Amino acid sequence: MSLSAVLLLLHLTVCNSQNFDFFLSNLNGFVGAINFYTKEKYVNDSSSLTIRLMRNSQYCTPDLSSGCQESSCGYVSALIRTVDQEGSGEWCQNELRTILLSPNNVVGLSSIPGVNWVSGIKNNIGSWTTAVLIDLRNRSDTRKENSSPQSTMIPFVRVPSNCRRDFSLLMFDPDGDECNACDPPSVLSLSSSTCTLSFGPTADSNQGRYGVQLLMEDFPRKNITMSDTDGTKTILTPNDALSKVPIQFVLIVDPPVSSCTEGDFLPKFLPPTPANRARLYTPVNKTLEISISADAQSSTISELLFSGPYDAIQNKTGTGTFTLRWTPSKSQDNYTLPFCFVVQALSKETKYHSDLRCVSVTVGNGAPASASTFVLVMGSFLSTLILAFPSI
Ligand SMILES: *[C@@H]1O[C@H](CO)[C@@H](O)[C@H](O)[C@H]1NC(C)=O
Ligand SMILES: *[C@@H]1O[C@H](CO)[C@@H](O)[C@H](O)[C@H]1NC(C)=O
Ligand SMILES: *[C@@H]1O[C@H](CO)[C@@H](O)[C@H](O)[C@H]1NC(C)=O
Ligand SMILES: *[C@@H]1O[C@H](CO)[C@@H](O)[C@H](O)[C@H]1NC(C)=O
Ligand SMILES: *[C@@H]1O[C@H](CO)[C@@H](O)[C@H](O)[C@H]1NC(C)=O
Ligand SMILES: *[C@@H]1O[C@H](CO)[C@@H](O)[C@H](O)[C@H]1NC(C)=O
Repeated sequence: MSLSAVLLLLHLTVCNSQNFDFFLSNLNGFVGAINFYTKEKYVNDSSSLTIRLMRNSQYCTPDLSSGCQESSCGYVSALIRTVDQEGSGEWCQNELRTILLSPNNVVGLSSIPGVNWVSGIKNNIGSWTTAVLIDLRNRSDTRKENSSPQSTMIPFVRVPSNCRRDFSLLMFDPDGDECNACDPPSVLSLSSSTCTLSFGPTADSNQGRYGVQLLMEDFPRKNITMSDTDGTKTILTPNDALSKVPIQFVLIVDPPVSSCTEGDFLPKFLPPTPANRARLYTPVNKTLEISISADAQSSTISELLFSGPYDAIQNKTGTGTFTLRWTPSKSQDNYTLPFCFVVQALSKETKYHSDLRCVSVTVGNGAPASASTFVLVMGSFLSTLILAFPSI
């Protein structure tokens, strides 16, 4: 069964299927990230499949919920909530979260359509439609279905054209064929030794907007067997991807700034802001508070921009200080969710972004074991990296 079949299954089984069609058709925009989780003991000891789809549009989609908890309807819940909206209305990120009984034997590659609502993209991205690979057969090593690698991203990140900035998520190796019709933006360079997507000072003529399209893949650490419910077994080697999920965002190269020093125009993170890739833990029902602090002398810090679970609550607590609070529910025990944020400052009408920081939050008291390694694919480049965001 393919992913589109899963989505079809989903809207056939939701009691009020009109609502679900409405959900999908109202999510105009492009996918920022997709995460899949599976978990045992949803209904009658069957496992659940949770799909979190972060969708980036100009306008927020109004809150919508649909679902039913009866076997006749398939125990499906689906909702759309706003994650964050940029203060001047530049973008809105919505989360579509669906939970359903994990369908049997689903394996396949599918695509999720995207709408390009961002004007003036300078590189040829072809299309914002993205690939997704899902395999819901039983893994011999974890004795359950695979979960996708997890990551997220805010819709737009900015850097002045004369400054240097590292997005320290990635390490690249050359490869091919993985991502159709998307050219890696020429203004980003890929350093395999430092695991970094780097932007360096560039000509004024390169100012503008660039689409960045990544696919994150996870691979077993050793040979494993995938079992269908009918007993069919398939061996996957460490070269076979278990899942592929997208990360997509827009890089905006702004006009030059008179000083690239962090803390002048560009906000500089201060303690106790967690380090990039920090791993945080919080048990069920206990509120995790992430404190974020930033400073800028020549601009005014205006807002925190973040991507994460829709029920994370952000508050401005003072000049340049913010909190993000999130309380996991019992059904999220053992999950790891990614959060990413930047602090935005203004000087006259000009916007400045801090570095991007991403942290993972695991529900529980310690790190879960990870049975997978991860790979990121960007344009025609392939990278191997164990990311900060573990798949379980
Ligand atoms: C769960 O078990 C109950 C009682 O055996 C049964 O009526 C129901 O159909 C089952 N639900 C599913 C989704 O299998
Ligand atoms: C996966 O396989 C293990 C062992 O073969 C079994 O105990 C477990 O119930 C299976 N899980 C699912 C979701 O089929
Ligand atoms: C893994 O599986 C491949 C393909 O079946 C096989 O060629 C290889 O020898 C296996 N490796 C190990 C360590 O079992
Ligand atoms: C979490 O809170 C819910 C609702 O208050 C409660 O039913 C549940 O038992 C709590 N779980 C834990 C692990 O504390
Ligand atoms: C935090 O923000 C929420 C809405 O975003 C608001 O309802 C709540 O009162 C704020 N809490 C504090 C402590 O400021
Ligand atoms: C969480 O993980 C631990 C260790 O892997 C496991 O014993 C426990 O059953 C898991 N809890 C849930 C709710 O999945």
